[in-house]
Amino acid sequence: MAKATTAYVCQECGASTAQWSGKCPGCLAWNTLAEEVTSKSGPEKPSAGGKVVALQTLDAEVPDAPRISSGLAELDRVIGGGLVPGSAILVGGDPGIGKSTLLLQAAAALANSGQTAIYFSGEEATAQVRLRAERLGIASAPVGLGAETGLAHILKTLGERKPAPDLVIIDSIQTLWSDQLESAPGTVSQVRACAQTLVRYAKRSGAAIVLVGHVTKDGQIAGPRVLEHMVDTVLYFEGDRGHQFRILRAVKNRFGPTDEIGVFEMTDRGLSEVANPSALFLAERADDVSGSCVFAGMEGSRPMLVEIQALLAPTSYATPRRSVVGWDSGRLAMTLAVLETRAGISLGADDVYLNVAGGLRINEPAADLAVAAALISAHTGAPVPMETVIFGEIGLSGEVRAVAHADQRLKEAAKLGFTSAIAPRNKRAKGAKNRKNSGIEMREISRLADLADSFQTPGKVSRLSNGAARHG
Ligand code: TYD
Ligand code: MG
Repeated sequence: MAKATTAYVCQECGASTAQWSGKCPGCLAWNTLAEEVTSKSGPEKPSAGGKVVALQTLDAEVPDAPRISSGLAELDRVIGGGLVPGSAILVGGDPGIGKSTLLLQAAAALANSGQTAIYFSGEEATAQVRLRAERLGIASAPVGLGAETGLAHILKTLGERKPAPDLVIIDSIQTLWSDQLESAPGTVSQVRACAQTLVRYAKRSGAAIVLVGHVTKDGQIAGPRVLEHMVDTVLYFEGDRGHQFRILRAVKNRFGPTDEIGVFEMTDRGLSEVANPSALFLAERADDVSGSCVFAGMEGSRPMLVEIQALLAPTSYATPRRSVVGWDSGRLAMTLAVLETRAGISLGADDVYLNVAGGLRINEPAADLAVAAALISAHTGAPVPMETVIFGEIGLSGEVRAVAHADQRLKEAAKLGFTSAIAPRNKRAKGAKNRKNSGIEMREISRLADLADSFQTPGKVSRLSNGAARHG
């Protein structure tokens, strides 16, 4: 067998040296050399014991990947219907967001349904994990628990288990260390080497493996995304520490869609699944205030209603402030510009604060129209009617563009008791009949300039004309 040696490889340019130094001799970048294990045998030659691979065709019957339910419906939904045996999942998230809690609950649910689950904790002692399990009410679940950080010990333990466990959880990958490398646990080379070995174990044994990874300050898992390409599925667990709910989001999935989210609520007895997130996000909505409206959004295949709030205040700066939470500030700037140029509503003398209530982050352009409505409502002082939802994309020429999944958005709105919707005109609609069926009165608009009229009751218009005059 080839002898293993270590080399220091620049993570930027790939240059390799035998000795560590602070500066890469190749590209002169600082602090980019990372230790890697290499074998001395050199490049493979054609005769070096290779075998001929029997090539296949693309069209053949493919059985669906078998799935094991994790016991948490929201987790199953995000990974595409359950754990795939032999696959590797990376769960990333800020420290303290609830990754350990989520996975311990999943392990317990799985173990309770007769599968085998092993949980290796490198961050907490067994007593701590037990305490948590007790608090979560799952202490009786037959989960195999180990407090270990040595990769060799973990592999040995797993190797002894015949048959292989159904689920192995490593919490967290940053605490593991392999004695093949000299660098400290948590360094890029250690994290990568340990993950590679564990992924190989998963493929070989058929166990599904979950690696927990802490996210660094700039939002990456353990350094320069070193793990994401190695695993089959990458999930991010996110949420605002100030809010109770947590969102599990798939950002890569070899076995399913990547735009699904799962919603959980952090309670004093652990994470509970939220089957109807819209109700949660709208729970604290105030009656008839201006500057607020409800956006009928989509997260993956799931419709989600959220409240969008806007606040205007006369600016005391030369350049007015634009502050956004939960939406893209570039899109806000665009919406403000289109409002001014195409609809004659100028907010140039106001500081603008925009907030997606509840702490959710929206990425859809379909929220444009709802943002514009919140801004107009804040500007005129006329509230958007409580029972109205809004969605639609705004183009630069002031047109309101159709968005996907209109029917699903409307259905969700109807389910939550909304009775009207301001939405783009659907040119391809087979008939307005469909929409009336969902019990929603449609106010279809095709131009942004019509938006203000579509929710203002005559007589209530107060600041609009003044405002336009003031800024014009
Ligand atoms: P944890 O799962 O340890 O986070 P991570 O593994 O991502 O670092 O979650 C820690 C937080 O969750 C902690 O601040 C307390 C809170 N928590 C609850 O609110 N209720 C609970 O039942 C548990 C177990 C934790
Ligand atoms: Mg943890």
